Amino acid sequence: MTDSNEVGRRIADLRQELERHNYNYYVKNAPEIGDREFDTLMKELEALEAAHPEYDDPYSPTRRVGSDISKGFVQAPHIHPMLSLGNTYSVAEVDDFVRRTRESLMGQDFAIVGEMKFDGTSISLIYEDGRLVRAVTRGDGEKGDVVTENVKTIKSIPLVLSGSGWPRQFEIRGEIVLPWKEFDRLNAEREFNEEPLFANPRNAASGTLKLLNPAEVARRGLDAYFYYLLGEDLPADNHLDNMRAAASWGFKVSDAMTLLNNIEEVDAYISHWDAARKNLPVATDGLVFKVNSLVQQLNLGYTAKSPRWAIAYKFQAERALTPLKFVSFEVGRMGIVTPVANLEPVLLSGTIVKRASLHNEDIIRSLDIHQGDSLYVEKGGEIIPKITGVDTSARIAGSAPVEFVKSCPACGTPLVRVEGEASWMCPNKYGCTPQITGRVEHFVSRRMMNIDGIGEETSEVLFASGLVANIADLYSLTKEKIMALDRFGERSADRIISSIEESKKVPFERVVFALSIPFVGETVAKKVARACKSMDALMAMNAEQLTAIDDIGPRIAASIVDYLSAPANREIIARLAAAGVRMEIDAPAQGQGSDRLAGRSFVISGVFTHHSRDEYKAMIEANGGKNVGSISSKTDYVLAGANMGPAKLEKASKLGIPIIDETTFLAMIS
Ligand code: IVH
Repeated sequence: MTDSNEVGRRIADLRQELERHNYNYYVKNAPEIGDREFDTLMKELEALEAAHPEYDDPYSPTRRVGSDISKGFVQAPHIHPMLSLGNTYSVAEVDDFVRRTRESLMGQDFAIVGEMKFDGTSISLIYEDGRLVRAVTRGDGEKGDVVTENVKTIKSIPLVLSGSGWPRQFEIRGEIVLPWKEFDRLNAEREFNEEPLFANPRNAASGTLKLLNPAEVARRGLDAYFYYLLGEDLPADNHLDNMRAAASWGFKVSDAMTLLNNIEEVDAYISHWDAARKNLPVATDGLVFKVNSLVQQLNLGYTAKSPRWAIAYKFQAERALTPLKFVSFEVGRMGIVTPVANLEPVLLSGTIVKRASLHNEDIIRSLDIHQGDSLYVEKGGEIIPKITGVDTSARIAGSAPVEFVKSCPACGTPLVRVEGEASWMCPNKYGCTPQITGRVEHFVSRRMMNIDGIGEETSEVLFASGLVANIADLYSLTKEKIMALDRFGERSADRIISSIEESKKVPFERVVFALSIPFVGETVAKKVARACKSMDALMAMNAEQLTAIDDIGPRIAASIVDYLSAPANREIIARLAAAGVRMEIDAPAQGQGSDRLAGRSFVISGVFTHHSRDEYKAMIEANGGKNVGSISSKTDYVLAGANMGPAKLEKASKLGIPIIDETTFLAMIS
């Protein structure tokens, strides 16, 4: 294919064809071709685009994979404020809404549209001349984050509209969701990597949408359903026909959206979906009822917070009633004692529930749980079941209330109340078995020192055999000592030893996290490590100096000082250092000789925490980028710290220059 016109035509055809297949697959769930044929077409388009950059188009389907370049978010005001909906929880309340509406409309005929209430994160999309120009999150209702690049990775969202009849400019609102299947996959992956799990698809969807790396967003499999069209010159004078038109332009509109002509049909719709929603591929938390006619919507108007022409009906969380077998008290690595309800196994939302945390003494008291009570367990779209109440009518006469233990269930030490909190803890930090083995388990886990072959059971065996009484003892283990224990062969001993050796390369930030300092989680550990740069410097700091670090409050500072002044901990740290564990931060990741930032110009502004301005300037240059003094249309990025001047901020936003923070910048060059 040498003739340039011919190339251009082929590129245009391929783009159109691929978008049509995307639509068939992601919106209609009815693919016409297999994955392989699709990939072949995509590869052909990629190759042609690479060979002919003159046909570059940011709307090409090849751009949906998301670029690797991270960008910060700029905010944009909403053209129409994003309001919420009034909630109802029973059929009677919905019927009241219908009656109220009839009265307000002075007896006029009206129809209601019933639709699903998707449980994700709302999005506002702006289209101009049939192209997606901006995607903005709800934010505070008046303004939100511009997340266009991330939204473009969602394959069911049309970048360029099909069909005809759309207004030159319009807004469409919908819900970005993470389908159950993708949610389960993502959480399984996070569990494997020992990362915190998402409690529900809603949190996962909103967290994903705010990621700074569009390529990662693309990988997570978000989807979107649309339910509201706004603008002038809309195709129809009623909601349902407008949504049908939107569907014909390529938007995913739920098939459940339907016209309801009277209260009986509304009630039947509720009873149908109360059960049928469990079979949907995405999470829903209710139904929405809207007056169909736009003129009637206008007449009904709005309250300060929500439209008078629409109402949400929330589904009942799935609930089960099951007898309490007993309450166990479990001791964590920080010594906190957590009460757990051990239940007669019961099926709830497709999984068997046997245990549920009761969190602390106050919760047991407020629920007023007695021995042998029957408890209500709920799973309202959350993965972790929750005890929400007691069936007091089934209480066994004279049964005693469940009492919180007074002494440690593991070592017998009297418990002490954590100041300012509802929890109790065992103060026997260095003699209480679950605390010791818990700290070892935390230390070896994947996100900390990543030592293979030691899990809960092994750390208990190592402790019981007298080999590992603290984390430093791990570095005195030898192959022979491990093999002398019953359950270890040569291979597993080798694996543990070589993995302990490897752990000496783990960066200092993770070492700080691995120590199990109370209140020092992953983010705090990073901040502290980067601010202090070495363990020696950290040990020399007092609480006042620590609170000068970004995000470190007096409670964390006191906890760090307390931990590092305990002689037992100082000895452990000295032994870790002697074993070769990293006790200093790496030199700034300058990616020597990298060209990751080649051709990019940066303006640096504000105050930084991880590195100095000069260090950032050096990093930009070392990676092929250019430092410039002031913002112009040629600036590619503004690297912004705290207190960036408002004039600069405004200029960068006006010119649409991405404003990135330190973490994003470091991710760009790492
Ligand atoms: S209509 C002015 N329809 O629920 C009315 N909202 O509580 C605009 N939602 O912020 C909203 N499904 O994020 C509407 N079918 C649906 C919906 C829906 C989910 C969300 C949306 C909104 C919230 C209101």
